[in-house]
Amino acid sequence: MDIKDQVVLNKIPEHIAVIMDGNGRWARKHGKPRVFGHKNGVQSVREITEAAAEIGVRYLTLYAFSTENWSRPKLEVNALMGLLVETIHKEVDTLNRNNIRLKAIGEFEKLPPKTCEALKEGMEETRDNTHMDLILALNYSSRWEISNAVQNIVSDVIGDKINAEDISESLISNYLATHFMPDPELLIRTSGEKRLSNFLLWQSAYTEFYFTEKMWPEFRKEDFYSAVHEFQNRERRFGKTSDQIV
Ligand code: IPE
Ligand code: IPE
Ligand code: MG
Repeated sequence: MDIKDQVVLNKIPEHIAVIMDGNGRWARKHGKPRVFGHKNGVQSVREITEAAAEIGVRYLTLYAFSTENWSRPKLEVNALMGLLVETIHKEVDTLNRNNIRLKAIGEFEKLPPKTCEALKEGMEETRDNTHMDLILALNYSSRWEISNAVQNIVSDVIGDKINAEDISESLISNYLATHFMPDPELLIRTSGEKRLSNFLLWQSAYTEFYFTEKMWPEFRKEDFYSAVHEFQNRERRFGKTSDQIV
């Protein structure tokens, strides 16, 4: 049976997060510069967005550029920023056709002006779509996000908007960049690396992790469905015993 047909449609995770990794290594394997890997990674973004929308995922968050990625060679950073502009411009029509809303998390105001503009335009032009949210984590890091939340919480306490006693897990969640969506049930990382790299630290407290050796540019729909299928066969206990779950 086709792997897609094995996916149980009434048990689809509402939110899937992806650390798209391995573009550089994939390019090197093909004797090409790293940027070639990023360019080919765009096709995987297209496929996985489509795959997620097809099975009814509500939120798909893609880690596209971390705060730490600024440390890469300037040439590569510039290429990534240019590729983002190009991709957003090219894909907006498809997003609209598929009723997908583009969103971003991260300090995207600090991206190069052209990238920030393209992103804002893309979000504006797709803002009324309701089938799925495609969230790009751009200039994102979880520690930045948490520090930022703490600053805003303190400022609201000082400004008498909230009381210190009101600070709870759900209040903190509401101050994070991800406030508009639930925590991811499933997080996928490609390329064989097994770490979070400063991604969704708070939100992944009970997330299921799926690691694959596939490099991002070779990650296809069936790989995505395999991840969802494995997720559906895991037992999520949330601290309880197995007996309590059934
Ligand atoms: C992921 O692939 C893309 C970004 C981080 C922007 P990499 O560029 O990290 O590829 P590797 O890990 O060096 O192979
Ligand atoms: C994480 O990948 C960031 C993105 C996928 C955007 P990296 O390739 O930058 O992660 P590390 O630094 O190797 O952990
Ligand atoms: Mg990497």
